[in-house]
Amino acid sequence: MIEAGRWDCVPAVTTDSTKISITADSTYNTVINTSGLRLAVQGDFSMLATLSPPVNAGTFLTLVGTLNSGDWWYGLKRLDVGLGAAGIVVNYWTGSSPDARASTFPFLPAHPGAFDLEVARIARQIVVFVDGAEVGRVSDPGLFDAGQLYLGFNVAPQRTLSVLALAAAVPSDSASNVTLSAAFLRVAARADTALRNRAEGRGFLVGAAVNPSLLSRDSYAETLGREFNLLVAENDMKFAPTHPGPGRYNFCAADQLIAFAQANDMQVRGHTLVWHQSLPAWLTKGAYSRDDVVSILHDHIDTVVKHFKGKLLSWDVVNEAIAYSPPYGPQPSFWRDTIGPEYVDMAFRWAREADPDVKLFYNDTGGEGLGAKSDAVYNLVKGMLDRGVPLDGVGLQMHVSVTGAPTPAAISANLQRLAQLGLTIHIPEMDVRIPSPQTASSLAGQATIYRGIVAACLANSKCEALLTWGVSDANSWIPGAYPGFGSALLFDEQLQPKPAYQAVLSSFEQ
Ligand code: XIL
Repeated sequence: MIEAGRWDCVPAVTTDSTKISITADSTYNTVINTSGLRLAVQGDFSMLATLSPPVNAGTFLTLVGTLNSGDWWYGLKRLDVGLGAAGIVVNYWTGSSPDARASTFPFLPAHPGAFDLEVARIARQIVVFVDGAEVGRVSDPGLFDAGQLYLGFNVAPQRTLSVLALAAAVPSDSASNVTLSAAFLRVAARADTALRNRAEGRGFLVGAAVNPSLLSRDSYAETLGREFNLLVAENDMKFAPTHPGPGRYNFCAADQLIAFAQANDMQVRGHTLVWHQSLPAWLTKGAYSRDDVVSILHDHIDTVVKHFKGKLLSWDVVNEAIAYSPPYGPQPSFWRDTIGPEYVDMAFRWAREADPDVKLFYNDTGGEGLGAKSDAVYNLVKGMLDRGVPLDGVGLQMHVSVTGAPTPAAISANLQRLAQLGLTIHIPEMDVRIPSPQTASSLAGQATIYRGIVAACLANSKCEALLTWGVSDANSWIPGAYPGFGSALLFDEQLQPKPAYQAVLSSFEQ
């Protein structure tokens, strides 16, 4: 399970070919592998971990039967077993309090040496063995009654835990069973009445921005796979996560999203290759010359586009190259400052060289209706087409507010002029933020805005996709980015459909 678990995708875990290690600095470091590995457990079972020497006090194997919902402890069913200062410690949480039930069993590790820690559920008992000998047992308050288990570790400040092997076992003569699966391979149950079914009837793509760490939440993954036929990574295909060090690339999280999309028959938008945000410090604080930066960007685009070749519908090659405020000149950006304005055309040419088939988009915000920003977007893309730059489409982000969204008529007019350039249009980041607290009337106003904008897109044959920037109000970027606002998406914090959902659904039916 070291290899199968994709621990390289879990933040704060380091991996090499022989082991995984978890280090804590000044606070406890708890890591739970919610995206790479999930076990379905039935009956009696045991989990075995071979810990590498020296095994420090304050290092624990963590087994989670139910993830939290809300506060870190709320609903959490978790068992930590490991070495404390006075012996083997068994701590568990049952989801109703932040305080653990704690027991300690005398044990002195033989130094130096690795040891095998085994945690078994035997009938209604949790039994702990070290190197095959029982050390202690506690009664099981039903920690794994949900039939599943996530693996993790908990490490006290200034400690390191290294694990050489992880395995599960069941008694041979019983009905017990352990199977491995990954949250990102879950296949959601489909429903005839879902958004995607209605959209497919119109040859339309309806999608959402996704955070792979949320795929382990069953209701999130089920809603995503049931309702949408398109997804985009909210953050995981951006520069900082995919290119974390000079010449170093990481596609863990993005690959999980693509696996989920393929398992659920969804398409994927790539977002984004060139943006002034999500840039790592190694790049922006490095002493690079213009030539260096040109070759770093070329290598980035070439590597990332080739990695995903054949798997994506489109790439947002350049994102938000025009300023956010009047007079809508060029966006101040590391790329523009070091390379010059030609970075935009260069990026599109390199993307096309890396993949001749994927559709290449320019994506921007605040230029959805008519006005100075949308004129600036129009002029930029028109200029690119005139120069022969390979450009297939425009993304009109559509982060709007219930207190002031562009009218459907203005959006239709803008779609029309972009379509006349031969460009495909996506509405790739829609949300309609509401001042908190929401009211029945603000939710109704939001539904009207969604309805009008979806209808404007459907009415233009070049407008081919609409995505919301997130699935549920519980995980939206809006409260962080626009303090005082929230409730911007189609599903509420409990993943229940809102009036806006019904409005979008009924727009597809017309
Ligand atoms: C946002 C994400 O939602 C946040 O989680 C992240 O911290 C910052 O980026 N326009 C875009 C998106 O093109 O990439 C942005 O996403 C939202 C605005």
